[in-house]
Amino acid sequence: MSPTSPTVKYPPGPTSLLPNKLLREFIHNPTETLMAITNKYGDIAHFKFARQHVYLLNNPDFIEDVLVKNHKNFKKSRGLQVSKRLLGEGLVTSEGEYHDRQRRLIQPAFLPNLVKKYGEIVTAYSVNMCRDWKDEEKLDIHKSMINLTSAIISKAVLGSDIKSTEGSQVGDDLLTCAEYFNRLLMPFGELIEKIPILPINKGFQQAKERLDSIVFNMIKEHRDNAAKETSKSDLLYTLLDSQDSEAGIKRMTDTQLRDEVMTIFLAGHETTANALTWTFYLLSEYPSVEAKLYEELKSVLGISNANDGKQDANRLELRIPTVDDIPNLEYTEKIVRESMRLYPPAWTLGRQAINDYNLGDYVIPAKSIILMSQYVMHHNPKYFPEPDLFYPERWTRETRIQLPRFSYFPFGGGIRGCIGEAFAWMEGILIVATVCSRWRMFHEQNHKVELKPLITLRPKYGMKMQLEQKKY
Ligand code: HEM
Repeated sequence: MSPTSPTVKYPPGPTSLLPNKLLREFIHNPTETLMAITNKYGDIAHFKFARQHVYLLNNPDFIEDVLVKNHKNFKKSRGLQVSKRLLGEGLVTSEGEYHDRQRRLIQPAFLPNLVKKYGEIVTAYSVNMCRDWKDEEKLDIHKSMINLTSAIISKAVLGSDIKSTEGSQVGDDLLTCAEYFNRLLMPFGELIEKIPILPINKGFQQAKERLDSIVFNMIKEHRDNAAKETSKSDLLYTLLDSQDSEAGIKRMTDTQLRDEVMTIFLAGHETTANALTWTFYLLSEYPSVEAKLYEELKSVLGISNANDGKQDANRLELRIPTVDDIPNLEYTEKIVRESMRLYPPAWTLGRQAINDYNLGDYVIPAKSIILMSQYVMHHNPKYFPEPDLFYPERWTRETRIQLPRFSYFPFGGGIRGCIGEAFAWMEGILIVATVCSRWRMFHEQNHKVELKPLITLRPKYGMKMQLEQKKY
């Protein structure tokens, strides 16, 4: 059925006589536009962006249908071709059978028990960051979190410190690429590419070449060392070894490895950095939550000698957390969970229907775009009373059991759900615990906070914070 066929019955939704009015509103303020449409039209709404038919779903069962039960009838919508320039055929960009095979191959590397071994990297890098901070210093915590998470993911994947590898700027190059994709994947972003002399295109090419060279060198080094290396502690070794004899899936080639490493680099740092930035912001806005968090940290971690190489080495501070503490850091986990409810780092997912598709009372024609917004769903008062309130206590055991699966989906779901979810939880909880047991942060009163919903949900003007060292 063609989307324009006269027999198509569309769900209600906004219409405008002015062409592209809605698209302009969306570009200007995407989260609010989708919220307004949902508030007015409910579980399923239809509208047009230029000539494209779009369906916005805000019913957890519908979303489960698209992402899990009938996922084969959908492909990722926009931007795959663009993203492939950097990510090749990595997990985020590949489709169909090839994606499912790669996913099967890589999934074991991200099982929660394997992810545990990266906990020490997370805390060591967090402690190092905190060590450089000064009492009453003002900084942009969003930048600090991007630097921290890109250093952690590089170390976890490649096993070497990014600041000491050749080029010494994997972190900066990752940022350049992330910025480039954010720009390109916005509506009309493809126009940027058509002008190669634009600095953003040149910057991207250079960053890509440097990253490629480092990653290929590291693959070679890992292959050369694989026989003699016994600890094989980083993720690249795990990927090198991955195969699935049962399913007849062989080990990956260098190009496949390169694509997956680059994908994990890019998918694995900005999302977590945003989640942490919003968490620190919320903690500074809700001192009673911060105080309760601190009580938990004191009780779980206990106080010991700082012994951090500074002059006042006898200073007391909380013990550095480990992955074994995570089950006891229940309130910390609730804080991270609640922060990703209010500010989901991946704020919307898009799919394109391959064939006509029955959903509720409607037939969605092939080629239609389906939008499912975590941001909109997570603010639905039906599932989250007083949705704008930062209230970690809402995450009781009963609530978790009762909520429909896709009323809260910061990591998506199904075969294309986030492969790094266990890593992200471990990393988020350990960073919050490490940082908040050493520092308090105060949001700068005159600093404006606004959403910048690109691929991820960033703070538009960064996040200016003043630091205060915890004293014992
Ligand atoms: C708070 C942190 C994170 C959030 C909120 C997040 C969110 C997501 C979401 C929503 C998707 C699904 C996208 C879709 O269905 O279109 C996804 C996919 C993915 N994520 Fe994450 N992510 C996070 C951290 C990570 C980390 C730490 C890694 C790697 C170490 C990672 C690697 C990936 C990969 C490789 C995919 C593609 C999976 C596939 O298509 O098979 N993510 N992520």
